[in-house]
Amino acid sequence: MFPVFQPESPEAQAIYDLFILVLMISAAIFIIVAGLIAVALWRGRSRAILPKQDFGSEKREIYWMVGPILIVIWITAISAKLILTVNAFPKIQPPGDEMAEADLTVTGHQWWWEIEHHESGIVEANEIYIPTGKKLRVKLQSADVIHCFWVPQLARKMDVIPGRENYIWLEAGKPGVYQGRCAEYCGNQHAWMNFKVYALTTDEFAKWESGEKVAPGTPAEPAAVAGEKLFFAHTCSNCHTVAGTVAQATIGPDLTRVASRKQLAGGAIENSTENLVRWLKNPQAIKPGCKMPNFKFSDDEARQVAAYLESLN
Ligand code: CUA
Repeated sequence: MFPVFQPESPEAQAIYDLFILVLMISAAIFIIVAGLIAVALWRGRSRAILPKQDFGSEKREIYWMVGPILIVIWITAISAKLILTVNAFPKIQPPGDEMAEADLTVTGHQWWWEIEHHESGIVEANEIYIPTGKKLRVKLQSADVIHCFWVPQLARKMDVIPGRENYIWLEAGKPGVYQGRCAEYCGNQHAWMNFKVYALTTDEFAKWESGEKVAPGTPAEPAAVAGEKLFFAHTCSNCHTVAGTVAQATIGPDLTRVASRKQLAGGAIENSTENLVRWLKNPQAIKPGCKMPNFKFSDDEARQVAAYLESLN
């Protein structure tokens, strides 16, 4: 239910273990303090008798000052150790070797994520396909404001800051779908800046990768053909990329395989024909403030463009 409580990578496990340890220490302190207060209240419940008056004890005061200080120092030390461990991104790299720098580049945009696989050149939006059991180096950058990349079950949080490159490890211990989100308020659609990590087995990943490398064919269905014309006539190509066409812009998400995506608009809507039509007709009604303009498509036009987009798979 709460992904932070179900770690699925060594790093997330280490964070979880520390969290539980600190939680236990805090709980123990709470129980002791609250228990002593309860005992004191119970003992002094009679208003008739004045309880025994205590005017301080130097020894005890030293104990309860030194005790908490030691606990705080200890928690600081184990936290610092963990931060250094989970941050241990190999900055040592062959000079000028861009490819060795990272496996994935993730770019935060208001309000969606762009993912580039360095080795294959595959570009995704809001979905990150990874092979299970492989520790991936992720480079994080921002196209606009500060975002924060967080997959609670797999890794620590890492801020995504304009003009700066941050790095984290991403690894899934077992195949599955892991929810990720933007964890730094970044504007009015911050809540709809979600993504999912799909951890596949090595075979599945190889299959996915080879499938992704094939550019989608030209549409055959009449509605899709009409939609393709509308797509380019309405300058959708000024913002989006569709591999193998003149659309090569990177302001909006890469649409090369938009039909294969499970969700649209940073998780705001499921990827269905009806939702796609709704989105095309008035994106601002679904995600106010997003950069996708309203092209005032008629119902038929929106359906044709949707048919074209659904042919991209
Ligand atoms: Cu991006 Cu919040």
